[in-house]
Amino acid sequence: MRILTGIQPSGQIHLGNYFGAIDNILRMQAQGHEVFLFLADFHALTTVRDPAALREGTMNAALDFLACGVDPEKTVFWRQSDVPEVQELAWLLSVVTPMGLLERCHSYKDKLAHGKEATHGLFAYPVLMAADILLYQSDLVPVGKDQKQHLEVTRDLAIKFNNAYGEIFKLPDAYIPESVAIVPGTDGQKMSKSYGNVIPLFDTAKRIRQSIMGIVTDSTPMDQPKDPETCNVYKIYKLLATPEQAGEMAAKLRAGGYGYGDAKKALLAAYHEKFDACAARREELAANPAKVEEILARGAARAREIAAPTLAAAIKAVGLR
Ligand code: ADP
Ligand code: TRP
Repeated sequence: MRILTGIQPSGQIHLGNYFGAIDNILRMQAQGHEVFLFLADFHALTTVRDPAALREGTMNAALDFLACGVDPEKTVFWRQSDVPEVQELAWLLSVVTPMGLLERCHSYKDKLAHGKEATHGLFAYPVLMAADILLYQSDLVPVGKDQKQHLEVTRDLAIKFNNAYGEIFKLPDAYIPESVAIVPGTDGQKMSKSYGNVIPLFDTAKRIRQSIMGIVTDSTPMDQPKDPETCNVYKIYKLLATPEQAGEMAAKLRAGGYGYGDAKKALLAAYHEKFDACAARREELAANPAKVEEILARGAARAREIAAPTLAAAIKAVGLR
């Protein structure tokens, strides 16, 4: 079964991204699935206008994923724009895309509501996303809830195309892991870079410490019992620690005599235990960008082996060339 997902390179990644998305990819990779993972830089271009920022953001995202454990020997890992076939397919899909289908997309409307310029690229974003998915004959596409509608568009377009021209594309299914918890930020709301409440995955020890020590807690005094289920520190600790360690912290909080400061220190230690090796790997790779480029180039070559015949079949089916 081929599992494909794309990630927009968009700034510094945080614990929410790790436990909401990356962890899931690593799990599927470990289970031996055929995982296709790409950095959606063509999509990022719909909102990033600074060439240096786009380049750097893409490189940083590559470093983040490789450092976290994406293994290019197992997972096909590439940069979207290195496989230009996707643009040609996007056009073939465009001509069967009803305007109304795109006009109904929440994500487009949300972006406009957030002040983004109404460009054709932003509007046609779901068509390019459909091309990403269909080009690789993907079976399963793990995405967040916000992308569910784009998967419906993808299936619609595949059906329309297949009806018009013959069975070219596999119909993919969305995989929206319900079990993935929303990781709370330092203020208890959903952790998100747009809320300024993140615990970064890779940063200086000082900034990581500051963000963990800054987690908002209630004012229950040190000696009083505390409810772990309403404690932001515990909620994050639970994701990082073993079940035994989490159980221990919960018991200590309930018993009283254990302060939020103690819990934060335990969280900081668990954070370092889990991510220090990744951070070291990231530093090593960052010092060798040529190696990262080589990994991405190899990934693109493997991706193209699937992309080229799919595109060729679609081109032939519509009567071009
Ligand atoms: P942000 O909200 O910081 O802008 P993105 O929207 O770029 O993050 O999210 C990238 C991926 O990380 C998505 O798959 C999203 O579902 C996941 N993710 C982001 N924040 C969280 C969170 N707080 N809890 C769980 N998953 C998250
Ligand atoms: N739109 C997705 C997001 O913002 C990223 C993406 C682009 C994607 N192409 C894709 C995800 C193909 C899955 C499959 O998260």
